Amino acid sequence: MKRLTKAIFPAAGLGTRFLPATKASPKEMLPIVDKPMIQYGVEEAVASGIEEIIIVTGRWKRAIEDHFDIAFELEENLKAKGESSLLKEIKRIANMVTLCYIRQKEALGLGHAILCAKQLIMDEPFAVILGDDIIDSKVPAIKQMSEIYKKYNSPILAIQRVKKEEVHRYGVIKAISVGDGVYKVLDLVEKPKTKEAPSDLAIIGRYILTPEIFEILERTTPGKNREIQLTDGLKKMLKKKPIYAYEIKGKRYDAGDKLGFLKATVELALKNPELGKDFKNYLKTLHLEDW
Ligand code: UTP
Repeated sequence: MKRLTKAIFPAAGLGTRFLPATKASPKEMLPIVDKPMIQYGVEEAVASGIEEIIIVTGRWKRAIEDHFDIAFELEENLKAKGESSLLKEIKRIANMVTLCYIRQKEALGLGHAILCAKQLIMDEPFAVILGDDIIDSKVPAIKQMSEIYKKYNSPILAIQRVKKEEVHRYGVIKAISVGDGVYKVLDLVEKPKTKEAPSDLAIIGRYILTPEIFEILERTTPGKNREIQLTDGLKKMLKKKPIYAYEIKGKRYDAGDKLGFLKATVELALKNPELGKDFKNYLKTLHLEDW
């Protein structure tokens, strides 16, 4: 079995749920406490043993590349001021992992974004990380999933139980439990109505996929808005290969959504060693019942 060493970060979406903030700035660069949200995903990937990251970007996403590059003037400036710990942090970000960038010229869906990275993956398994899903967990989410991948040698989808009234926002699986939070997927339904949802098990922004998906996506007919949906590709893949789903242990925030972003900001700020105590004391003074 080939080792999992690569991850794709599709980051070329339009971020319409976060307008107007995302009109000219990439959603992935919105900060949660003191880090742009994509950095949480990159750190998770590195902590999971990923050695090469491919970020699929779009025209107005240059700031992502700059963030993970060296920042010569800034570094010289921090050096001159003796700001050694900030300097160390800025350098660490640029040296974390090997990164490559590829452009998706038009936002033609998640499936299409993944397809853009085909030439850089070749014939290896790979992770897909959606940078706006932040997962706070003891064991990094992709690491948890790679253990399951090693056992089943098949694609693994990260899932989470969601409330019935929320299923219409997700891809939802029909599945049978095979124990320890792992499910064998029988079917997938994209954004079902509450009544039509096969379960409350929703797919979240982490996947481990195998290269067969590329050929399948190439042959998948675009749907609404000319988009190629990953769920449609996975549905086809199911006919050829078993797919498993794994209930991630950890707290997931949908930071691509305004409310999810606020929840992530508050909770991660409360956990922040530098700010947590003062922030908690501040929140206590708010007397929330008066708002
Ligand atoms: P989302 O639907 O969550 O992101 O896509 P979005 O399209 O940026 O945001 P909204 O829905 O308009 O608010 C899931 C992931 O897939 C990427 C997005 O960047 C996000 O990380 N994506 C989506 C692409 O890279 N290309 C696409 O064409 C669509």
